[in-house]
Amino acid sequence: MQPSYCLNLAVYGNVVSLMSSLQSILIRQARIILPSGEAMVGDVLTSDRHIVEVAPEIATTTPAIEIDAQGLTLLPGVIDPQVHFREPGLEHKEDLFTASCACAKGGVTSFLEMPNTRPLTTNQETLDDKLQRASNKCLVNYGFFIGATAENLPDLLTVSPTPGIKIFMGSMHGQLLIDQEALLESIFAQGRRLIAVHAEDQARILQRRQEFAGIHDPAIHSQIQDNQAALLATQLALKLSKKYQRRLHILHMSTAEEAELLRQDKPSWVTAEVTPQHLMLNTSAYETIGTLAQMNPPLRSPHDNEVLWQALRDGVIDFIATDHAPHTLEEKAQEYPNTPSGMPGVETSLAVMLTAAMAGKCTVAQVVNWMSKAVAEAYGIPNKGVIAPGYDADLVLVDLNTYRPVRREELLTKCRWSPFEGWNLTGWAVTTIVGGQIVYDKGQLNTQVRGQALSFV
Ligand code: DOR
Repeated sequence: MQPSYCLNLAVYGNVVSLMSSLQSILIRQARIILPSGEAMVGDVLTSDRHIVEVAPEIATTTPAIEIDAQGLTLLPGVIDPQVHFREPGLEHKEDLFTASCACAKGGVTSFLEMPNTRPLTTNQETLDDKLQRASNKCLVNYGFFIGATAENLPDLLTVSPTPGIKIFMGSMHGQLLIDQEALLESIFAQGRRLIAVHAEDQARILQRRQEFAGIHDPAIHSQIQDNQAALLATQLALKLSKKYQRRLHILHMSTAEEAELLRQDKPSWVTAEVTPQHLMLNTSAYETIGTLAQMNPPLRSPHDNEVLWQALRDGVIDFIATDHAPHTLEEKAQEYPNTPSGMPGVETSLAVMLTAAMAGKCTVAQVVNWMSKAVAEAYGIPNKGVIAPGYDADLVLVDLNTYRPVRREELLTKCRWSPFEGWNLTGWAVTTIVGGQIVYDKGQLNTQVRGQALSFV
């Protein structure tokens, strides 16, 4: 059974009856962001799971659900390439159903999820278990990383389907921590698949934890896990990637120093991402939201915000991920350092970024590239990330004319809080379509829709 609080959103009644046979959807007179980045006012027709036509005006005799999209902007659905959805094992924080409801509401139509669940996702059996769970309960499309341990090199070479290998170089305990260079090197040296690193230097973190022991102000978190800790790990990952010409992705890059390093020296096989919170929040957030601002890698200074923005605009950083990492308010209410690190994000990421675009930080077309197209390209996800005939009908209609605050009581993530609570945002999803089916429409979810497993080529 699904949790009742999601159902009390009122299921989108008209659509449920259409589930057995996929109908065409005709979206009329939207401002469509085209693959070139240009905007065109026009129509989009879907059939079965795909986009079949994009044109200034489509005349069709096919029976279709018509959506009057005048005044709205149509974007490819967001692909969030770094989330922690907690199932199996930590479902008191989140599960694949609640998380995917939050995705649908946020305009996120696909996600790539991380292996630090219980059990850890470290072999074919645990990967298959997640895929099975997701096929039963996920409203959006899904893919799952495999986590590296000291023992599972053979699994890292063979498991499938996966977007890549996740390595925690720091900020993790237990089996997923790989903080010895020799072990890291053995992973980089074998195989070809993408390696995604959480780049923080564990030795430096441990040493600084001792130096700052006894301090309970959560702001100390950004000093313990400082810019240097991030830089050291990114330098090491880059060195190994260059030695073996190994496809490397740097997860949630957080510092000016790392951005400058990549600006100087970024091989063509290396990509990097940044989170909305590392762009929009900084250490001043500890004063207002305390431990809710605690995440790994930590929030940095306003200077880091600006350098990261510039690196993103210049293509030094390739795309956006939320690192959606929900913890309960009870867990976050403990005293630092007993509080867990992480914050939710899938429900607010698109609106946060589009609000930044409307404020002049970037263009809407850049947001589309960073949240859809560039992600599909980097992970080799076929048929996704742009609005064009033949591509999958994963779409989101957003309203860029009205502003609404982030309200805790409206959130669908099981943890039910957001670091952006109270922020007045525009670009909220009005309608989200996954595989040619309306999964979210004006505040209502169709919880019957199921996403599909992503493939990676
Ligand atoms: O703050 C974080 N929390 N960063 C991560 O990379 C992991 C995450 C979690 O799983 O809670």
